[in-house]
Amino acid sequence: MHKIIDPAILYFGTPVVLVSTLNEDGSPNLAPMSSAWWLRYSCMLGFDASSKTPANLLRTGECVLNLASADMVDKVDRLALLTGTNPPPPHKNRWGYRYEPDKFGTAGLTPIASERVAPPRVLECPVQLEAVLDDARPFGEKDPKYAGLNAPLAIEVRVIRVHVDERLIAAGYPNRIDPTKWQPLIMNFRQFFGLGNILHPSRLSEFPEEAFKPRERLKTGTTGTA
Ligand SMILES: Cc1cc2nc3c(=O)[nH]c(=O)nc-3n(C[C@H](O)[C@H](O)[C@H](O)COP(=O)(O)O)c2cc1C
Repeated sequence: MHKIIDPAILYFGTPVVLVSTLNEDGSPNLAPMSSAWWLRYSCMLGFDASSKTPANLLRTGECVLNLASADMVDKVDRLALLTGTNPPPPHKNRWGYRYEPDKFGTAGLTPIASERVAPPRVLECPVQLEAVLDDARPFGEKDPKYAGLNAPLAIEVRVIRVHVDERLIAAGYPNRIDPTKWQPLIMNFRQFFGLGNILHPSRLSEFPEEAFKPRERLKTGTTGTA
């Protein structure tokens, strides 16, 4: 039997992304987040508007989306309850956050140069997506339940360079990621999880992945959004 409940959060399980941006003084900031999803080469990021990452992203227009693998969980957890905002906003103070200017050092992660954007990539992350800002808007602000609170931001970024650990590349397909080799770290409500194995053959995967490429779509006249 289903029950009607009123949960405080609806975080049903999404991958953990470490977003790197540059601070005003040129030093890097790094923030764990998981309100992220992708369509085509664009990604929507959901951020508390008081965080340093959206401020950096809106000011500089650039970031790197570093995808954490399940085996990075201890390093990711070291980034929790930290902010690059100094001083932290009142709600974060109350929740036990502290200002940390050296997130890479605190987590034991290594910054390496990106190719097309200024913020660094995270060496230890098997997937590193260099991205630029396309759009940002308040999110969920029409919900009367949250009246009086600052709205979070939905930030749309566009991936312009994809770096992938070669061990994740599918045999015989130089531009495909093998989903059986990619083991993302998942935040499910506020706990860390990994993925299990393939559950069932997928009918959606019966046509070639390359059908999604824009050139292929134009060639075949399949221009609608899928
Ligand atoms: C695994 C994980 C996932 C998180 N997901 C989000 C998220 O999706 N959106 C968000 O605003 N904060 C999220 N947080 C909290 C941010 O990391 C936190 O607000 C942090 O202070 C942001 O850093 P910054 O202020 O330096 O940008 C998450 C934290 C952890 C540990």
